[in-house]
Amino acid sequence: MKHFLDLASLSTSEIEHLLQLAVHLKLEWESGGNRPVLKNQILGMVFQKPSLRTRVSFEVGMKHLGGDAIMLGPQEIGLGKRESIGDVARVLSGYVNGIMARVFAHQHVTELAKYASVPVINGLSDDSHPCQAMADVLTIKERFGSLRGLKVAYIGDGNNVATSLLYAAAHLGMDFSIATPEGYEMPSRVRERGAGIAAHSGTDVIWTTHPEQAVEGAHVIYTDTWVSMGQEEETAARRATFAPYQVNSDLISQAHADAIVLHCLPAHRGDEITDDVADGPHSMIFDQAENRLHAQKAILVKLMAP
Ligand code: CP
Ligand code: NVA
Repeated sequence: MKHFLDLASLSTSEIEHLLQLAVHLKLEWESGGNRPVLKNQILGMVFQKPSLRTRVSFEVGMKHLGGDAIMLGPQEIGLGKRESIGDVARVLSGYVNGIMARVFAHQHVTELAKYASVPVINGLSDDSHPCQAMADVLTIKERFGSLRGLKVAYIGDGNNVATSLLYAAAHLGMDFSIATPEGYEMPSRVRERGAGIAAHSGTDVIWTTHPEQAVEGAHVIYTDTWVSMGQEEETAARRATFAPYQVNSDLISQAHADAIVLHCLPAHRGDEITDDVADGPHSMIFDQAENRLHAQKAILVKLMAP
């Protein structure tokens, strides 16, 4: 594994190994601190979009592992505008030991990876959010012990977060159901890749427009914003279309009694999730946010440790 761009292109055993490493690094951190296996290593963090969790967890993670990180916001780099992506990748490779990038077009991370001589990590693109999915499965594993045989239900937009969650669930033996309004389904290419991975691991994938059907018997109920970064002009239309897809106490009462509620955050409380659910007994959203740190340490160590 040279880069970390997309869970569909990793093997199940690579993902399982990352998850085990995340569990180990979290335990190590909680038992007094991580060994400085990334001493003197610098992560360059390229952001074309805003971030709280991704930015802070990567920077803190590098510091816990003995290294450091540099933040490069949209004003500094002008990725593909001030300078070509290939040139940015080659220049940065001379200064830093790894690049984490949050971009609009997914092609921008694949192009960084093509030209960089150091590992590239996808910190969210319009197509996928694989770092998030690793934190998600770590959180599910902590709650249920093992993953195989669980059912994950995603309610809302068939977006980047949903895509990576589908791939992670399919790789790791969890059934996946998704309820989206018509016109907001995942792209057919993603559905085919997800179904292919699920067939390989013997799990089910259910596509529906009915949230109640998706959550039936589910151990995990997951939602994300109805309006992703870059879609702000569609806000009014999306809020109207997605209103029946809110994760509220009625909906979770139809899931498994021990179901947990996850959300990658930031949450738009009162839209895709209600306050009583986000702050209620089923919610693990803040454990999930913390797990970004631990899951990403595993990715950093795997790609960057000498
Ligand atoms: N979940 C997530 O990626 O959060 P940020 O956008 O704050 O990084
Ligand atoms: N789907 C959201 C996730 C934010 C972490 C977005 O792309 O804006």
